[in-house]
Amino acid sequence: MNILIIGSGGREHALAWKIAQSPLAEVIWCAPGSPAMDQIGPCFDVAADDVKGLHDLALQLEPDLIVIGPEAPLAGGLADGLRARGFDVFGPGAEGARLEASKGFAKDLMARLGVPTAAYRKTRDLTVCRDFFTGNSAPYVLKADGLAGGKGVVIAPDIHTAINEAEAMLSGKFGGAGAELVLEEFMPGEEASVFVLTDGVNRLTLPACQDHKRLLDGDEGPNTGGMGAYAPAPVMTPELLKVVDETIAAPVIDALAQAGHPYQGVLYIGLMITPEGPKVVEFNVRFGDPECQVLMASLADDIVPALLACATGGMPARDFARLLPQLEAARPAACVVLASKGYPGTYEKGSVIKGLNAASAVEGVTVFHAGTGLNAEGEWIAAGGRVLTVTATADTLEQAVSRAYEAVDLIDWPQGVHRRDIAWRALAPG
Ligand code: AMP
Ligand code: GLY
Repeated sequence: MNILIIGSGGREHALAWKIAQSPLAEVIWCAPGSPAMDQIGPCFDVAADDVKGLHDLALQLEPDLIVIGPEAPLAGGLADGLRARGFDVFGPGAEGARLEASKGFAKDLMARLGVPTAAYRKTRDLTVCRDFFTGNSAPYVLKADGLAGGKGVVIAPDIHTAINEAEAMLSGKFGGAGAELVLEEFMPGEEASVFVLTDGVNRLTLPACQDHKRLLDGDEGPNTGGMGAYAPAPVMTPELLKVVDETIAAPVIDALAQAGHPYQGVLYIGLMITPEGPKVVEFNVRFGDPECQVLMASLADDIVPALLACATGGMPARDFARLLPQLEAARPAACVVLASKGYPGTYEKGSVIKGLNAASAVEGVTVFHAGTGLNAEGEWIAAGGRVLTVTATADTLEQAVSRAYEAVDLIDWPQGVHRRDIAWRALAPG
């Protein structure tokens, strides 16, 4: 079958790499893709948010399966439009995508269903913010309702900062995304992410991941899109995974189906493991980046039958449950993100990256490209904030991490930065 992948980051490179290993895959097309994805299959210069252009491309190519990587086109209804034209699409429609595109929608749905999450208040009014903060203790959590490129969440250490941030957001710091705020109770605990593949009825839970959102070692410095990840995360025991499936994934996925909007894709559940059990921090409606790189490396199974079953729907429960037979034995995997100096702020593009072949030759290692280009000499150059995801698998997590760093150390790119402590929570003694 022929498969069209929409997106251009490390996540989509990993999806293309994994899909290409399937005996079912014939041609893989990417839009817009990247120079690295072009080595897997032809790329078309149509942006991931160009809904009309993507419709035209799909009509021209007639793919048997379309996999949508990023959230923005999902929130914009790309999956609905393509499904209406008869295509099989992995990715939820706009209504399901509201779980990520509107934090208020997600909180209201969870409240209605009794899904465990932080207490909250939605508001457009600064006085309400002041009252909410006064009635709670530090730290204070405030979130822009809409998509804000991963920057719309502030954890304020004191009430003064909280009120200033609320004022800035309500005055348009994130444009329309911050016109409404969600104020939340602070949840203490360790974070983990759980990814559930679903056709809207059936569910398959992938190995739990932990990502490292802060730029610097020891979880210090500014928040980023993610500087590394690993799976399986031992903090998510099989018992906790069952609790997450029963108390979070099942009610949310069932409610969307009952409302006439079956969710067909991957549901990303961001969790806080609190003393009272796992609670939802956020939902995303796509694979995480770089969690996807780790999951694709870790899974021994062919992913295409599972993606296709989610996209087409209607598979009997017993067959759906057998789509990933080796899931229980998924190998430990870890990844280290190499970012441009200056990220997540401003950074320069164009510096040459050497040593990628040597890095890829390390046993168990795959280097996924998140933001690279090729110069006139055919050398890889940096072309984004997050540039590479060096991913490794092994028999143990410790060995996977050590292989990833062995490969990182073979990459010659003085303008790059990375963390040295990926998976520290899982590897910490005791
Ligand atoms: P989000 O974009 O919603 O995942 O939030 C970004 C980060 O803020 C999360 O990964 C958490 O570390 C933190 N966070 C968000 N909401 C809460 C909360 N209610 N309590 C504690 N930490 C939170
Ligand atoms: N790594 C976090 C995310 O993809 O949202």
